[in-house]
This record gives sequence, C-alpha cells and structure tokens, in this order.
Amino acid sequence: MEKTQNSAAGNECLVFYVNGERFEVAEIDPSTTLLEFLRSSTRFKSVKLGCGEGGCGACVVLLSKYDPILKQVEEFSVSSCLTLLCSIHGCSITTTEGLGNSRDGFHPIHERFAGFHASQCGFCTPGMCMSLFSALVNTEKTNRPQASPGFSKLTVSEAEKAITGNLCRCTGYRPIADACKSFAADVDLEDLGINSFWRKGDEKQVKVSRLPPYNPKDHACSFVLNDRSSRLLNSKRYSWFSPVTTEELRSLLESDVVENGKRTKLVVGSTGNGYYKETEKYDKYIDLRCIPELSVVRKDNLGIEFGAVLSISKVILYLKEFGDLVFTKIADHLEKIASGFIRNSASIGGNLVMAQRNYFPSDITLLLLAVGSTVSILTDCHKHDKITMEEFLNRPPLCTKDVLLSVHIPFLQPIRIDGSDQTNSRLLFETYRAAPRPLGNALPYLNAAFLADISCSKNGILVNTIQLAFGAYGTKHATRASKVEKYLTGKILNAGILNEAIELLKGDVVSDEGTSHAAYRSSIAVGFLFEFLNSFSGVVSAITGSLSEDLNSLSIDEAAESNNDSTGNQTGNQELLSSAKQVIKSSKDFYPVGKPMKKMAAAIQASGEAVYVDDIPSPPNCLHGAFIYSTESAARVKGISFSPKLPTGVSAVISAKDIPKGGENIGSTTIFASEPLFSADLSRCAGDRIAFVVAETQKCANLAAKIAVLDYDKEGLYPPILTVEEAVERSSFFEFPPYFCPEKVGDFSKGMTESDYKIFNAEIKLGSQHYFYMETQTALAIPDEDNCMVVYSSIQNPEYAHIVIARCLGIPEHNVRVITRRVGGGFGGKAMKAIPVATACALAAHKLRRPVRIYLDRNTDMVITGGRHPMKITYTLGFKSDGKITALHLDILIDAGITEDATILIPNNIIATLKKYNWGALSFDIKVCKTNLSSKSTLRGPGEVQGSFIAEAVIEHVASFLSVEVDAVRSKNLHTHDSLKLFYGNAAEESIEYTLPSIWDKVARSSNYVQRAVMIEEFNQRNVWRKRGISRVPIVHELTVRPAPGKVSILWDGSIVVEVGGIELGQGLYTKVKQVTAYALGLIQCDETENLVEKVRVVQADTLSVVQGGLTAASTTSESSCEAVRLCCNVLVERLNPLKKKLQEQMVSLNWETLIVQAHFQNINLAANSYFVPEFSSSRYLTYGAAVSEVEVNILTGQTTILRTDIVYDCGQSMNPAVDLGQIEGAFVQGLGFFMLEEYLTNYDGLVVTDSTWTYKIPTIDTIPKQFNVEVLNSGNHQKRILSSKASGEPPLLLAASVHCATRAAIKAARKQLKSWGAVEGTDSTFQLEVPATMPVVKRLCGLIAVETYLQSLLSHIP
Ligand SMILES: Cc1cc2nc3c(=O)[nH]c(=O)nc-3n(C[C@H](O)[C@H](O)[C@H](O)COP(=O)(O)OP(=O)(O)OC[C@H]3O[C@@H](n4cnc5c(N)ncnc54)[C@H](O)[C@@H]3O)c2cc1C
Ligand code: FES
Ligand code: FES
Repeated sequence: MEKTQNSAAGNECLVFYVNGERFEVAEIDPSTTLLEFLRSSTRFKSVKLGCGEGGCGACVVLLSKYDPILKQVEEFSVSSCLTLLCSIHGCSITTTEGLGNSRDGFHPIHERFAGFHASQCGFCTPGMCMSLFSALVNTEKTNRPQASPGFSKLTVSEAEKAITGNLCRCTGYRPIADACKSFAADVDLEDLGINSFWRKGDEKQVKVSRLPPYNPKDHACSFVLNDRSSRLLNSKRYSWFSPVTTEELRSLLESDVVENGKRTKLVVGSTGNGYYKETEKYDKYIDLRCIPELSVVRKDNLGIEFGAVLSISKVILYLKEFGDLVFTKIADHLEKIASGFIRNSASIGGNLVMAQRNYFPSDITLLLLAVGSTVSILTDCHKHDKITMEEFLNRPPLCTKDVLLSVHIPFLQPIRIDGSDQTNSRLLFETYRAAPRPLGNALPYLNAAFLADISCSKNGILVNTIQLAFGAYGTKHATRASKVEKYLTGKILNAGILNEAIELLKGDVVSDEGTSHAAYRSSIAVGFLFEFLNSFSGVVSAITGSLSEDLNSLSIDEAAESNNDSTGNQTGNQELLSSAKQVIKSSKDFYPVGKPMKKMAAAIQASGEAVYVDDIPSPPNCLHGAFIYSTESAARVKGISFSPKLPTGVSAVISAKDIPKGGENIGSTTIFASEPLFSADLSRCAGDRIAFVVAETQKCANLAAKIAVLDYDKEGLYPPILTVEEAVERSSFFEFPPYFCPEKVGDFSKGMTESDYKIFNAEIKLGSQHYFYMETQTALAIPDEDNCMVVYSSIQNPEYAHIVIARCLGIPEHNVRVITRRVGGGFGGKAMKAIPVATACALAAHKLRRPVRIYLDRNTDMVITGGRHPMKITYTLGFKSDGKITALHLDILIDAGITEDATILIPNNIIATLKKYNWGALSFDIKVCKTNLSSKSTLRGPGEVQGSFIAEAVIEHVASFLSVEVDAVRSKNLHTHDSLKLFYGNAAEESIEYTLPSIWDKVARSSNYVQRAVMIEEFNQRNVWRKRGISRVPIVHELTVRPAPGKVSILWDGSIVVEVGGIELGQGLYTKVKQVTAYALGLIQCDETENLVEKVRVVQADTLSVVQGGLTAASTTSESSCEAVRLCCNVLVERLNPLKKKLQEQMVSLNWETLIVQAHFQNINLAANSYFVPEFSSSRYLTYGAAVSEVEVNILTGQTTILRTDIVYDCGQSMNPAVDLGQIEGAFVQGLGFFMLEEYLTNYDGLVVTDSTWTYKIPTIDTIPKQFNVEVLNSGNHQKRILSSKASGEPPLLLAASVHCATRAAIKAARKQLKSWGAVEGTDSTFQLEVPATMPVVKRLCGLIAVETYLQSLLSHIP
C-alpha cells in the first residue's frame, strides 16, 4: 500500500524519488527536464530521447504523486522529455529499471516483451513497457472484479490502447500488442501470436502456467511526499515558484521582479514546449498546479466548472463520470488529443492559452466553442472576467501575467416550447476529427463539433437551432459557421437545403493563405456537415418522399444509425489490431538453428539495461557537439554569428579549417566517391554541414546550433537545382562505371511490334522517405594515448567510419578503433550517414584533446540525413489484348541529391525488383541526377521498393486501359522459370527453387481472395460513402551475399565469445549467429552440447579486433556472418576432434566443459578467425513473396483503413522463424508508411520541412492492418544457400505496395460512382495515385466535391 512521508527537506530544495532512490536537488536550472536529469545525473538511462517533443513515447516514465484533495496517491505515465524536473517535487518516478532487472529478476512485462518477440532494436521498448505498466497500475485501482492469477483487470482493447502514442519503427506493433494483451483479463490465449512460452496446441492451463507470472500487488509506491508548502527554488539566475494560493500567485505576478521586465513563465504540464520549442530561458517560472482553486471541479444546475490546471485525462474521467451524452462525446474526442502520457500532464488551460495566444490548432477550443462554454480569467493581477469562448478567442492575446482560472461547460437541454416540461425537440451533438492517425498523436487537418436542436414536423426534420464549430483548418482560431447556422435555423431539412447550406459553408470555412491542403480541408468540412445532417434527416428518403410523417425522437436515432454508412463514428471506440495469425515451420536439420528463439538481449532492452551509445557514461571532461547546417542551397557562407549571443558553455566552433595538417576534409566514403565533412565555403544544399559547435552540455550545443546565423551570399552563383527536371536541363548528372548499369532484356522494338496496344510516355513520380530510426545519430569519441582515437558509434558501417576518421585526422588506421555494440534502428540510415557524425566527434576530440559526444536532436537528424531517393519515371509499353505485356521501356531520373553516397546501387536495385514480371522485352535509360538537395542514401529496400512499385503501376495501367481485373493482368505476366532465367540469369537457380507460383496460389487461398473480391463488389454497391478495394501483389527480390569476417573463441569454462563484422541493428543478427555457433560447435558431438547456445555470447563489433567487417545492409549480413562463424567453428571442431576422441577412449562420458578445460591444458588454439567469401556463381539469389491487402476508403475524409493483410514469404529454411517473422511484419509496416503515410516535404530552398514527429507520421498501432496474417514459408533445402536460409530484412517491405494498390481499387470504385452521379472530371479509371497516398491525396481522387455532386444528382431526380 502506498505511504506518504512528510517533507524532510526545506522549501528551497527539490526532493523526489527515482525507483526508490531519494534525490535532493538544491540548485537547478528550472528549464531542466526530467529526462535530462535522469540521463545525465542518474544511472537510470532507460528513458530514451526519441524526439524531445512528446511525439514518440520513448521517454515515458510512471509518475506517482500525492493528491491532497483526493487524499490518495495518483500514478500515471508522463513524457519525461517535457516534464520539468522542478515540477516533480514530492513525487516518485518509476522507470523500467525500477520494475526489475537481469540480476534481481525481470518484471513479467520485460519477460513477456522478450518472449513475444516484441523488441527488435529495443530503443522504443522501455517507453512501451512503462506505458503498459501505467495502464496496469491504474486498472488495478478500479473496482472491477479481480482477474484470474497471472492477469490484470485490463481488457484486451485497453491493453492495446495503452501504447497508442508510442512509436516503434522496427516491429510493426503486432508482437507488442500481443505482449500487452497477454496481461488482459479477457484475453483468449489462442489469439496471441508466436512466443517462446508455449507451443502451438498446448492446453490453456499449460499456456497460463508458462506465462511469466504477474502479480499486481507487486507494485507499491511508498515514496511520495505530502508537501503542500509553497516552494521557491533558486538557481544562480533563474527561479521556480510554486504558489499554493491565488493570493500568493497574485503577489508573485505583481512583484517587482516582473515589473523589472524579467521574463516570467506560467507553467502547468510544460507540454506546450513540445510544439513551441522555446530556446530562450525565462528568469522566473511559476508553477500553477499547487493552487487548489485552479484544480476545482464544481457542478451546479447550469453546468460544470473545471479548474484550468486539470489535466486533460482528469477532465475526460470527470466528463465520463457525469455520463451526459454531450459530455461523453466531448470526452471521446479529448481521448484523441496527443497520447495518454501527454494528456496525463497537459492541462486544459494550457491548451486554451496556446490556442488563444499562439493560434495552436486546438481540439479543446473547438469543443468548448460548439457547446457554448465560458472561461474565467484573471487579468492585470486582480481583474476577474467571465467571458464566452468566442470572446476569449477573439480578445487580444493573453499577456504573461494573465491567468486562465477555469472553464465552464453548460448542461444542454432541448428547447422547451412555452416553458412547458414537454418537448418533442431533441439535442444532437457530434464531433469529428480528420487526422492521419485515427486514435490521436496527430494534429487534425480539420476538426468539427456540431450541436443541433431538432424536432419532427409532418414535413420532416426541423432545425430549431444549430451550432457548427470548425477548427484546426488553418485559421487563427476555431470558428462558428454563423452564416450556415443562421440559414439552417428554422429549416426543414432536405437535399436542396443541404445543398444550399454546403455552398454557404464553403464561404465560411476558408483556410488562411499558405495553409497546406486548403481545398482538402474545406471539402472535409463539407463532408462532416453532410454526414451530420444526413445522419438524422435521411436526405435520400426525404427526396423520394418516403420520410415518415410521424417521425419521432426514436426514429431520429434509428435514422442516424441507418443513414450513416459514411465514416462510422469518428470519435467512437475503434478497435485496433483485431486479429493476427502467424504460420511458421521450424526445421530441426541444424538445431538450434531453425528454433524460434527469443532475440538475444530482448529482456535487457525491455528492462533498460541494454547500453546504447548515448547511454555510455560520459568520460570526465566530456564535451558535446551539434551540427550547424545551412538552410539555403547553392549559397556562399561568408560567416557564422550567434543571435542574440554565443551561449556560455560553448568551447569551440569547428569547421573545415580545423582539419589537422595531413588530414582531409572527408565525411564519408564509398569505393567510388567521398564527400566532405564540412562544406568549405559553399552551402551545396539546405542541410549541408557547415560547422560543429562543441559545448559543455548537449543542450547548450543544440541551443548554440539553433541560434547560429549564417551569412549567405548568392551573388554570381547559379540558382540551385531542386528537381530532376532542372538537373536534366542543366545536364547535372553523376556518372558511374558501365559495369554497374543493369542489363536490358530482349528487343524492345520487336516487343512493341508484337503488341496490340501501346501506351506512350506515362509518368510516375516517387518522393523520399525519412529513416526515422528511434535512436537518432550518435557517437562518442575518446582520445587515447599516442595519438589514438576510440570512437563508439551507432553505425552499420564501422569499417568505413574507421577509414574516414583516420583520413580526416591524418593518422594511421591502426590509431583508430570504432566500437559498435548495438544500434537503435538503422534501416540504412546509419550506413553512410553515421560516418560524418562519428568523424565530427573524432575531429573535435582530436583538436580539443577532450572526449566529445553527440546525440543529434530529431529535427537536425531529419534535415541532414537525406533519406530515400526520389525519382521520376516515364514509361512506354506495348501489350496484347489479353493483358500480356510484350515490351516496356523506362526513362528513370533518380534524384541523388548533392553527393553520390551509395546511389550507384540504385539503378541496379530498381531494375532487379522491377523484373518480377515478364515484360517480354525490357529496356531503360537511367540517369542519376545531381541536385542541390540533401544527399540521399540507402533506406531499407533502396531502389527496390521503387522498382517493385513501378512494376505494379504499369500493370495497373494496363488493366485500367483494358478495363479488366488487375489481378488477372498480374497473373498473366508472372514469370515462368524460363522467363525468370532470361531476366535474372544465374540468380534464378533451379526451377524447384522458384516458389513464387505456389506462393501466389497459396496467398490467394489463405486470404480467400476470390470470395472477398466478390464481397467487396457487393459492399461497394451497398455503400455510398465507403468503398473497399483488394489487391494481390507478388515480389521477386534479388539478393547478393557478401564476404564477412568472424571470430570464435572458447574460454576456460567452456563459454564462447563470438565476434562478427555484422552489426546488431535489431534484426536479430546476433541471435542467428549465436544459434549457428551452437549448431556448428555442437558437431563435436560430446555430451551435453544441446545447451551450448546458452554458453555463446556475441560481443560488440570492434574494428581493431575483427577487420574487414564491411557494411551491415542489403539483408544478407546475417547469413554471411553466420557462415563466417560456422567456418570458425569448423576449424575449432577440427582442432578439438583428436583430443575428443582420445578423451572419449579414456572416459565413460565426456562433456563440453571437460573437453575445453583439457584443450586449454593441451595448448590447443581455441580461437579461430575466418573470412567468408561467397562463391561468385552462387552469391546472387532470388527470394519470393506475395501479399493480399484489403482496404476501406472513406470518401468523405480520404481516410484509408487497412482491413486485412495476408503475407506469404519465402525465407528458405529460416534460421530463426520468430526473428524472420519480426522482420517481415516490421518491414511491411515500414513500407506501409512509405506508401500511405509519410509525407517528405521540402521548402523552396530544398530544406526539409517535415522534420519532426508533428509533421512526419510513421505508422502507429492504429494504422496497421486490423487483421495481419503472415506465413513464413519453409521452402526446403537450398543447397547453395547458407544453411538453406534466405534473407528477410528488406524484401517484405515491398509487399506494402499491396495496400497502395488496394487503395487504388477502392478509389476506382469511388470514381465510378462519381461518374454515375453525372460528374465528368475526375472519374477516369486510369489515374496516378501518388505515394504516399495520404488522406488529402485519396480524397482528391475520390472527388473533392463528391458530396455536392451527389446532392446535385439527387436534386436532378426531383420530378
Ligand atoms: C505531442 C503532443 C500532441 C498534442 N496534440 C494535440 C491535439 O491533437 N489537439 C490539441 O488540442 N492539443 C494537442 N496538444 C497540445 C496539448 O493539449 C497542450 O500542449 C497542453 O494542453 C498544454 O498544457 P500544459 O499544462 O502542458 O501547458 P504548458 O505547456 O505548461 O503551458 C502552455 C502555455 O500556456 C501558458 N499557461 C498554461 N496554463 C495557463 C493558465 N492557467 N493561465 C495562463 N497561462 C497558462 C503557459 O505559460 C504556456 O505559455 C498536443 C501536445 C503534445 C505535446
Ligand atoms: S522523447 Fe519524449 S515523447 Fe519522444
Ligand atoms: S524495437 Fe521499436 S523502435 Fe526498434
């Protein structure tokens, strides 16, 4: 049970607990966040910095505090990156380390995350665990019945929703959802996916007994202070006040300090800082949360008053408690604001002030405006005003001394005519929100809330009064559509009235100039109004005259039910992942290879013990760096200054001129080209590295970089090249050696001659994608004796970093050592792009003779690291009337950005995956354009995802042209083994290995493709505002096995240490290596080698210990590292064999340990190195897969919901099916982000503007397929493959094109319908669906004026 302690410290000291350890802080800069404190001043490093803006959940902790009003301890999750340290006085913080650890025992959350394979790179895992833990703790406090032993009171749905605000870039969320659901009281264990606890077919009781036991009583928070005294914390210059009465607050505001022009900030949850990242410090912070009046909840006859500092979460609880329909709907809508860990500390007052003062696109102002709320404010320290929301929003911005005290939400009653008790009028209230993520953590494109009082008359539904509020659409504040309200009041609804109202609305809801997607926003306003009015008026029946004359209030509800085929309830409960199935087959041929073992280190990743580069404690005197990058392209940089001034704490600003004598200005290299570390005097692109500022803290370095002002001069310079078209105009290309160019197939002209139809010069454009690894780029460089440098780097390519650092510093390579233990997500972004980060630290450390580290902030990372290659494709093709394609020619312009990087690989990669179909003849002309954009690099499936997509776009085009089923055209053009050989040569291997035809049929069967296609047809006939589409897509992916080194050493106790060149990025490379080591050493065949796997430890990559480590990329590093290790083990077995035989002759039984001890005594060399070099003839191979996806498109908003995806993927004989399954699901979801969600935008200077979690939306648990079925095919023996296995890291990403194609099918249905309503434009069945197919894109293609066209069509049928 929780205990509270009286304060032991004075009121000028901050006291709090972290995982039970007491901290007393006397002096602190009040702008210090909890995360900064935990990471820099404690040993609790599990709180990860993923974004610093409340958008990712990597930093979530549990906060426990005493509520003096409720007289109890409250516990909730918060984002430690926004929570200010000073605000946690008296509180207790629990991080995932506080739940358990490897030494004292893991918490069941840790064990279940590991056992359900829910952690890959592990960077998101501590935050995930804490979000779940918070949900478990709070559900335990409810008075629901106790769950059966091992489970909690959570429901399955709540368990999944516990992590809605947490981002994961690796797993695709399904296994995380399973780990969470395993705690739910109502979980059906059959529904949980593959795990390491039980086997398929085990009895329920067995399953329950194998789940790591959970006992809710194990958590008791006993470290909370009940300290209600006012508080003053002074640092040298800045102070923090926590007044406990309004009088104290007044006097603080009136005090001299304020008058003297000192900057003061009122603070509640401080989450506003996630959006308005303030760089300047305030002199005085006033925490409003200790003033009881500001936390009031007061109910009277007229409504409810909420104190301004109440958190959004609390307001939701109270609103739900009051149970009123309007309040419940408001609460449901509030649940879509941010995520739980933000709502728990974000106050309603803070939100309103941000909206009022800074025009934040608030949901709360909208809701309060719609229901006629009022607010109380304190102005000029003593004036107390009560004003309406409208007055509040329209008054001049609140000044820093004005305090918002409370909000009053009125009870709403239907109109009572003549004061009578009886009324036949009825209140209807609905709220809407169109946002890229349905369940929150995304600002809306537009939100709306409508309140109507209606009654039934014999002519239909009469609108007595109506309030229509719209917000977040690009105006300063939420507004009321007053003209429409006035027009509708007193009207009987019918199509004509609706039509007129909509026309008026278009004049009322107009975004400010410069707002993105303005036309889209206005069209969803129309859609929402239509949906609201149509839901109860039944426009269609009104038109046709079938509207019942005696419509009563009950039938209004019924009408609402039956008329609403459109969006479903925008704010109601939406199920997340409804089901998932995994089919895997393990092979025992090379046991324990093939076993779905849990990933090495998964549990310590969950418990926060896993050490990432930024978790390595700073050595003494360590400095921190930040890049100063340019914001303009093709401009001379004449100088750097800092405005207002260089912050104290900055040690140096390092640039190209600081490269030591004998060194080189080099930032990265490939075998073909190198690029500079710093731009010497010309900013080649926006995002170019200009300098590296080094300071005492990361915060100070970041601040200095942010306030750096570059002096540009463009005189005499050519304007930048920002598009591939401009590059062509100015002949700006990179040239690569011809042997890197892919080869054409067949005779294009002949193929064209054979065709019945031709399409000429059709165009496709593909944009970029950010890596969005959860751990941003990071490195730590430590100068060592004798001019040496040790660099810890989060990198996929330590060998190249090693070379570049040596060249940059002008020292021999043996003076450099690069160490990488694990990487918090790479996806190709830490191949080349991590090298300059490590090199800059090394250069600064070399110059300053002090350790230097960096952890890039999310915004800088997104601006400078490039991303996927954008490209423009123009194609010409010929095909037969049956859909068989006979010739395809492509002109491809690849945008490489400013440097070559690894772009040389892209043309080959594009063509390799595009060849998945038999095009008859294939020719192409590929140009690699040099533009003034940030240099693009290899993002998971580089070039391959585009190639595969281009192929699908061509197929779709042919099908539209011929008006035939796309699926039939796909099937028609799939390869035979002969054509496969023609297109892929040796890589096609034997016909038995060509598994695509069987996969193609298998996925159709397992997904019920044919039956569902018919059902979708019927669905689309029945539903006006929702359309569905289904699509089946194949992939053929060419892979190349590359050389790799390995080293295996056996220690005295028989434990084994393994080193490989491959890096553990979360893809399970070390786990597979461990399994192969155990298998290969087990071939010694002495006793008790079955558990050898437990004796193996794969240790960090160290470029001086294992050389020629190469690059971990292109999906095959796991298999080649495994092979390298197998070779080492073979050597060791060979060395041990004679001894073993000898000992076996002498002993009854010989176990591993005895053998090894004897081997040490006999001086047998127990360390072996290898360098695996694949045979040229078998180094390339193909892998195959197919996916069926079904989506539903909401025509009113453009939202696409992925209803179901079925994947069948050929992993060969999987080395670890659990790991491969994780790769398949994770890659698919990352691909889904590329195809559907992730908009990568630049400004007119080429500067990336989608540089944060606010603007860049990767998939979340609510945007993945609702049903997600994956079968990992065990395709038998592949003699030439390493242990018969095939890669899984990248190819499945390409399968996400199935979602895009299904969306296109749904849009086609919408356009067909639009045509049937008489529309002429925008109804063609051939159209380009952009990538990503975001809501605005989909809506535009479904018809921005679909509603108007529909109404016009109805009206035209009125006799
Ligand atoms: C990741 C994220 C996502 C979000 N998504 C949404 C969303 O979808 N929809 C939406 O509506 N909102 C959203 N928000 C905004 C969120 O609701 C606000 O950040 C929060 O409510 C602000 O409350 P706070 O207590 O943290 O305010 P603070 O950050 O402490 O303060 C914010 C500002 O208001 C001032 N202030 C605070 N309280 C008062 C008061 N009582 N009187 C006078 N001045 C005051 C402060 O001085 C400061 O200037 C999101 C926020 C985050 C971080
Ligand atoms: S780091 Fe705090 S939410 Fe992302
Ligand atoms: S495991 Fe979630 S981000 Fe890597």
